[in-house]
Amino acid sequence: MKKNKVYIETYGCQMNVADSELVMSILLDKGYELTKNLKEANVVLLNTCSVRDNAEQRIYGRLGNIKSVKSGEPNVVVGILGCMAERLRENLIEKNKIVNLVVGPDEYRNLPEYLDEAFSGGKGIGVRLSRTETYDDIIPYREGGLSAWISVMRGCDKFCTYCVVPYTRGRERSRTLFSVVNEVKTLSRRGFREVTLLGQNVNSYKDKENDFADLLAAVARVDRKMRIRFTTSHPQDLSDKLLYTIAENSNVCNYIHLPVQSGSDRILELMNRTYTIEHYLKLIERARKIIPGVSFSTDIIAGFPTETEEDHLATLDVLKTVRYDGAFMFKYSPREGTKAYKMNDDVPEDVKGRRLKEIIDLQQKISFEKNQELLGGEEVVLVEGESRKSSEYFAGRTDTNKVTIFPASDSYKTGDYIKVKINRATSATLFGDVVEKISPDFFEIQKTA
Ligand code: 5AD
Ligand code: SF4
Repeated sequence: MKKNKVYIETYGCQMNVADSELVMSILLDKGYELTKNLKEANVVLLNTCSVRDNAEQRIYGRLGNIKSVKSGEPNVVVGILGCMAERLRENLIEKNKIVNLVVGPDEYRNLPEYLDEAFSGGKGIGVRLSRTETYDDIIPYREGGLSAWISVMRGCDKFCTYCVVPYTRGRERSRTLFSVVNEVKTLSRRGFREVTLLGQNVNSYKDKENDFADLLAAVARVDRKMRIRFTTSHPQDLSDKLLYTIAENSNVCNYIHLPVQSGSDRILELMNRTYTIEHYLKLIERARKIIPGVSFSTDIIAGFPTETEEDHLATLDVLKTVRYDGAFMFKYSPREGTKAYKMNDDVPEDVKGRRLKEIIDLQQKISFEKNQELLGGEEVVLVEGESRKSSEYFAGRTDTNKVTIFPASDSYKTGDYIKVKINRATSATLFGDVVEKISPDFFEIQKTA
């Protein structure tokens, strides 16, 4: 019998990247094959994002393309997975004649059955959320590589008033420490050099008496040659214990993504972020004391309901005070079903746009200035491979997650750690020359030194 060929595209956050690997693993197990060619696929899956309206609009656009490639072909299933599936459910099928499968984030285990339903002419709809599903027993499908994303928990209980995630991904639940550590061991044996532990709010990870700091320490111990990253941290829950764990484990990267969202206490309260700017800034200060050289990135929303010019200036002030290495910056996008949706989206579009531009311009200037401070210094870089622009250059990232470009050479290869002397920098990229290749035991030596 000819095997079904699955083509999958992933949108949105890294959690979706990890989920697509789960989905591939589940389908391979049932005898499906994977393809990277849309044309030869008879199962086309889009793993989608609902966090902002423009993310959803992109998917509708893509469905239009897929329709032009696939319409008229018999026996093709087009499916929507992820947050849009959970949010819009059967409406997706009604509105888009090409879609005949809709499966949300907690139902991937049953995807093969929903596919059977769709293949036999029915609709495959699976959108139940679960309080317990963590897919702890499923090993995600990963092609070889350097970097892996590991989802350590699912869902979110924070209910920030603008955010659709608690509705599309359900309640918070953690995987076991044991299975996460085992997964990291397997990745280490396969030659992976970097893992990023993922959760909407990793700081509320819990497996019996183990919290996220315990998990991070256990993962870091597996292989000191592996870099460990994690995201996302919530400013209310980030503990000093976690800061010390980062400091004490030299292979845990000195980089914290700590979304502030707004610089105004009044707006933070309306967002239900549950911290004040004073608390946030103190946390940054403590982190900088405990982890020398730590770098930060953040998320900012411009134009939340009722945001005044004064609130906006307070956001610019936070950027100036913290001096983040980088930021993800967005215009507020009302999401149906959230608390903020009931508030009046009263900041006019042009004002939102202008404020966002001011935030981006300021952050770019700060990123540029911060990178200039690195000129003449040395950074440890994990070699990722050829740079995107030229085969004469390699690219890699620093501990603090900055893309670094340096001349290609036979003396080092993907997966090596090297020391690079930085001689030029833009706001987004460092450029330099290789000083030396570093012993794979570098982290171990650094730790005992
Ligand atoms: N509008 C704009 N940005 C949003 N985010 C989440 N929900 C919205 C929304 N409705 C942003 C937040 C969050 C990041 C992942 O996306 O900044 O931290
Ligand atoms: Fe959304 Fe807030 Fe949860 Fe992040 S912490 S996923 S912004 S509700």
